[in-house]
Amino acid sequence: MPAKMPLSLLLLSLCAIANAQSGLTDEQQLGKRLYNDKNLSANRNQACASCHSLKVVDGKAPAFVDPDNIKKGTPVSLGSIDFATGTLNAPSAAYAKFSPPFHWNKKEGLYEGGQFWNGRASDLAEQAGKPFLNPVEMAMPNKWAVVSRLKEDTAYIKLFFKLYQLDLAAVPHIKDAQFLQPTPAAVDSIYLKITQAIAAFEKSSLFSKFNSKFDFVLAGKTQFTAQEEQGMKLFNGKAGCSGCHISQAVLDGQGGFVPPLFTDFTYDNIGLPQNVKIPGNPSPNLGLGGRSDIRKLDPDRKELGKHKVMTLRNIAITPPYGHNGVFATLEQITRFYNTRDTLGSVPDNSNPDFSVSGWPRPEVGKNVNHNELGNLGLTPAQEQAVVAFMKTLTDDYPEWGNDPLIPPGTPSPFADGNN
Ligand code: HEC
Ligand code: HEC
Repeated sequence: MPAKMPLSLLLLSLCAIANAQSGLTDEQQLGKRLYNDKNLSANRNQACASCHSLKVVDGKAPAFVDPDNIKKGTPVSLGSIDFATGTLNAPSAAYAKFSPPFHWNKKEGLYEGGQFWNGRASDLAEQAGKPFLNPVEMAMPNKWAVVSRLKEDTAYIKLFFKLYQLDLAAVPHIKDAQFLQPTPAAVDSIYLKITQAIAAFEKSSLFSKFNSKFDFVLAGKTQFTAQEEQGMKLFNGKAGCSGCHISQAVLDGQGGFVPPLFTDFTYDNIGLPQNVKIPGNPSPNLGLGGRSDIRKLDPDRKELGKHKVMTLRNIAITPPYGHNGVFATLEQITRFYNTRDTLGSVPDNSNPDFSVSGWPRPEVGKNVNHNELGNLGLTPAQEQAVVAFMKTLTDDYPEWGNDPLIPPGTPSPFADGNN
């Protein structure tokens, strides 16, 4: 559990941080180009941005998820090669930089941090190396093929030389390779730089804006409605959400503080039902405990079915919800937390009574959390208040909020100054 601090102290230290909204560094510019480049996928039709979009949807903030999922309610993304789909919902790439490297927290006795629902990439750079080569995502056959695509764009040749003194032009294009020719030595170093540049871009303040209504209220610049206020109290109190979706500022490890991130980056099994609407109806995702490395360290299977606690920042604009996208709305998932153990049961989520009069059983029955959730005793009005509170976590509030106290263009009270 991260250290907590009083609000007054938080405001002082955060305001002291320079409100630097400066441009991107050269490396971040390169990362941005790579992030948006469809040419780096098998059919030249998909970029990171395809599934983690930077575009504004419905006048709100960019959601950093797959716009197709938002528009059509589909749980999973289409890959570069037609009809290939994965089995997990694309999480937001926003605020992901705050997840610490994957590690075992000895004091708490639990795993923390990492990227992906099961934390298998330790950090952003390691994560960024995966989608290019994932057959259900960008589907490139190997690193050399990715580097060959880079060579097709002279801007990359210049940038890689300028920034890293790496000569793309000297690496043969894979289509000119001889049969069984070994991969040129430079490919690994170039590929590593691709991932580091993307990670640098994801660390820019574009991805971590801290300019939601919640942030402006925290800074004392505007006010919640009565319902939002009630929702926050429930979130931190009776509903117990803040036990995992931490609503207080945290230490940044460098003497400063980070505004609330609404996650503690740990892993839990909240008893999510299987989503039978995922193409191919794949078998349950075993999460953290399904990883072969964790399996070896986990003879009692205590990590089975656990997935990463995701941030709730921008949550209102990133449906559907949960690692398999089984919940269509915030109302539904909140009702699930409240009544998982009390509502009754339905066979699966294609049943019209799903969430109305029952829930299916958990997709992984082991390690389901019965201490903190499942029977919260909230009234329907209280559920709605919690949802109203979560809706205050959407960024770019000055642009969409129509709040006379926070006119368009108002900078974040907590810009982290980290570009
Ligand atoms: C076809 C859609 C698709 C594409 C393309 C894609 N992603 Fe993802 N991304 C996903 C899905 C699905 C997950 C969750 C997978 C998992 O947890 O195993 C994910 C997870 C992530 C995460 C982890 C977030 C967290 O909080 O754990 C980050 C960061 C990310 N992607 C960045 C990228 C980058 C960078 C690229 C381009 C190199 C990229 N993605 C390309 C679908 C996509
Ligand atoms: C014991 C820890 C814990 C508590 C308490 C908790 N959550 Fe979560 N939350 C999680 C985990 C873990 C996930 C991801 C679970 C998964 O997908 O399997 C999650 C996911 C979510 C998501 C979906 C995130 C996404 O990106 O799809 C929402 C929304 C959410 N929680 C809201 C709440 C609310 C509201 C409460 C209080 C009523 C709450 N949570 C209480 C651990 C917790």
